[in-house]
Formats: sequence, structure tokens, C-alpha cells
Amino acid sequence: MNSKVAETFLQRCIEPDCGQTYDIDTPIYTCTICNGLLDISWTEQQNEDPDRLRSLWSNRKTSNDPRDQSGVWRFREILPFEQNSAVVSLKEGNTPLYNAPKSAAYCQLDSLQLKHQGANPTGSFKDTGMTVATTQACVLGARLVACASTGNTAASLAAYAARADLPCAILVPTGQVSHAKLAQALDYGARVLEIEGNFDSCMRLIRELSEDGSLYLVNSINPFRIEGQKTVAFELAEQLEWDVPDHLVVPGGNLGNSSAFGKGFRELLALGLIKRVPRISVVQAAGASPFAKFFAAHQHSVNLQFVDELNPRTLASAIKIGAPVSWKKALRAVEETKGTVLTVTEQEIADAKAVIGTEGIGCEPASATTVAGIRKLQLDGFIKTDEKVVAVLTGHVLKDTDYVIDYHNNSLRADSDELITSKFRNRPIQVSGGREELRAVLASLTKV
Ligand code: F0G
Repeated sequence: MNSKVAETFLQRCIEPDCGQTYDIDTPIYTCTICNGLLDISWTEQQNEDPDRLRSLWSNRKTSNDPRDQSGVWRFREILPFEQNSAVVSLKEGNTPLYNAPKSAAYCQLDSLQLKHQGANPTGSFKDTGMTVATTQACVLGARLVACASTGNTAASLAAYAARADLPCAILVPTGQVSHAKLAQALDYGARVLEIEGNFDSCMRLIRELSEDGSLYLVNSINPFRIEGQKTVAFELAEQLEWDVPDHLVVPGGNLGNSSAFGKGFRELLALGLIKRVPRISVVQAAGASPFAKFFAAHQHSVNLQFVDELNPRTLASAIKIGAPVSWKKALRAVEETKGTVLTVTEQEIADAKAVIGTEGIGCEPASATTVAGIRKLQLDGFIKTDEKVVAVLTGHVLKDTDYVIDYHNNSLRADSDELITSKFRNRPIQVSGGREELRAVLASLTKV
């Protein structure tokens, strides 16, 4: 591929009636003509030899070059940067794909695989996008990077900004971010600005403030975030010997991740690296499901307005979002791949999360929407028992330990105050007696 990035890549408005293009280094987030979202595109069709790319990327896994040790920059031929440019990296990506037999049985599937993005350096999938967005911030000479966040973007940006020595400001809704995520952002030295309201109010505010160019916004509306996150599709395809699953299921909040998978698989197909794409389905929490509602209505009438959810509610705080900025890109991903969009209840999320825990894997609540959703899609017949299915776990189990402890204490309450039934409860056993009582308890636990 051409090493001159400006000749190879540009930014393009995704609106079919507009399609306006911008240079790759124009610091904008949406189209200045129609306000549409922007895609990063190649200026012309690529004619790379797929086998050469496959072996190049695979060989880098044994290299000591820091860029090769990143699961994102290992795929740098598909990223809009000069091939030898310095990168801001924490050796993100290269996350495990686990077989999950207990989750498969729970979903009544022959098999199920979990792509655990919680194994990234800050414990969530955001790192794969943030390495690219902060690298671009350095290319542009940004003097302040910023985001709105439900917590994981905050933790990730805080870490990458620290690595790049960039001042960083984070807007979060007061009292709505898990302690673990807040702790990470503080520890990495970000300035955390707590705002009355919810994630959507933070997002609106920071977008407004970014308009005068005084800060560089790295939420997923920034197309460079999507570029980094699309590499997960490449990594997954590689892990599956370039034979993609029948279904890929992701949680939906601000809808950057589903958009990125859509773009990744579209590019894999265009480059001849895969022969077909998986059906991409998005799962939302029922109380924070504007995309699912829109998708259902859109099946019957195509010219519908997207209606934001004004008061999103879910214990899966990562996806407590009512005005997702990337819904048009996510819709494109779901429609192109013949996927679907669905909701799951708080109870279903909690149960699925506990089952994923019993695999010895664990995840945060938002990630468990996937397994809960797959179970429903199997029951509905959308997913067949013998199909190959991958669920994307977006965050680490330690991201929200209050939720876990409450669940196993049988005291987890939804926002509506409804008590979640702890079907897979595993509470600590109080042993008050001496050695004999302890011996009896241990005997009762021993495998027969
Ligand atoms: N899962 C987790 C663990 C998340 O943190 C998020 C989003 C999502 C799923 C949804 O991904 O927004 O791309 O659809 N968290 C953002 C944040 C909003 O600020 O950390 P999405």
C-alpha cells in the first residue's frame, strides 16, 4: 500500500445524498455541509494480495517491534497513518477468543465463543480505538483531549493520554460511573469533570465545546476511534483461520462498536481476506433501547425519525445511553449483514452475566447482554443450534464489582426498584465453628 497517507485515505460523509470528502487530517467529527457521520475511506480500491497480508500480520506476532506487539498496529496497512509513524500504544488488542461450553448450553447451542475485549490494558474494548484516536491527536498537535463517558472510555482515554503526555478532560454523569472506572481515570491523571445529568447530557455538552477546535474529541463519533476498533474484526477473522462465524453479537450503547465491526468486516471482504460476513446483531438493555425501538419500527416504514430515549435506565451503566451518536453507522452494519437488534431485561442480563462468570471468564453487566440476547435469538429461531456464534464481551468483570456482590447477596435491585432474582447465586458461606465444621463443609464441596 502507498505510504503517503494523504494520498491513500480521506474522510467521507456517510450520507448517500452528500458524500462530501475531507482530507484525512482535517480535524472534524461530522460533515460540515450536512452534519452526517464521517467514514475513513481509501481513495481508490486496494489491490493487495490477501495471502501476503495474512502472512505479514501473522509473522508480526513473533516480532519485538512495539507496533507489532499491539493487536491494533499489527494491522497497520489498513490504518490511516504513515507506515513508520510513532504510535501511542499500551500493547492493546490480541485478546482471547474462548470456547464457552456453559454459556453455549445456557443458550441451547452446540458451541459458543466469547471474544473477550475486557482483556485489553484498561479492561475494555475502548483501548483498541483509543490507541488510534490518541495517535491522531498527536499527529494533529492537539493540546487537550476530551470525551464524555459512562466510565470505560474515560479509563481508556485517561491511560492513553497519560502515555502521550497529553492533558485530558473527561465528562461523566455524577454518581453514575462505577467506582473501578472512576478510580482508573483518577489514577491515570485525567481531570474528571462530574456533570449533573446523564451520559447524553455530557455528550451533548462536549460536542458543543469541541466545535471551536479548542479540544480534540475522542468519543466514537471520531472516525479514528472506529478505525482502531475495526481491527478487532481482523483479529477475530485471523483467530478463526479467516472463516468468519455465522453470527457476531455485540452490546449496543453509543453504537460505535457495532459500527466498527460493520466497517471491519466490510473491508475484510473488499480486501478478499474473507468470503462472507457474519450477521451482526446488537443487543440493548430494555430500559435503554432507542436503537432497538427504531430498528423494529424501521422494518415497516423506512423514513422514520430516530427518537432518543430521554430517561434511559439500566444497571448495565456502561450502556445507559438514550441518544446514540453512531446509530446510522450501526444500522448500516446490521442491515448489510442481515443481523438484527433486540432488547434483554435486567433479569436476563444478570442471569447471563452469572453464567459467563461460571466459565471462569466473567465480564461486566453490559457485556452480558450478548449471551442473554443469543439465548433469545436461539429460542426465536434466528440463530440455529449448530451455527457458529461469537459474542463480544466488552468489559472486564472487575469493572463493576458492586453489581456482582449485590447479585450474589440477592440484593441487586433494578432502577425500577424491582429485585433481581439471583438464580445463579453463590454467596459466601459463614463458618462460625472450628476445624471440624470447616472439614465437613470442605467434604461437602469435594468432587465425587
Ligand atoms: N460495553 C461496555 C463495557 C461499554 O463500556 C460500552 C460503552 C458498550 C458496551 C457500548 O459500546 O457505545 O460502542 O455501543 N461505553 C461508553 C463509555 C459509552 O463511555 O465507556 P458502544
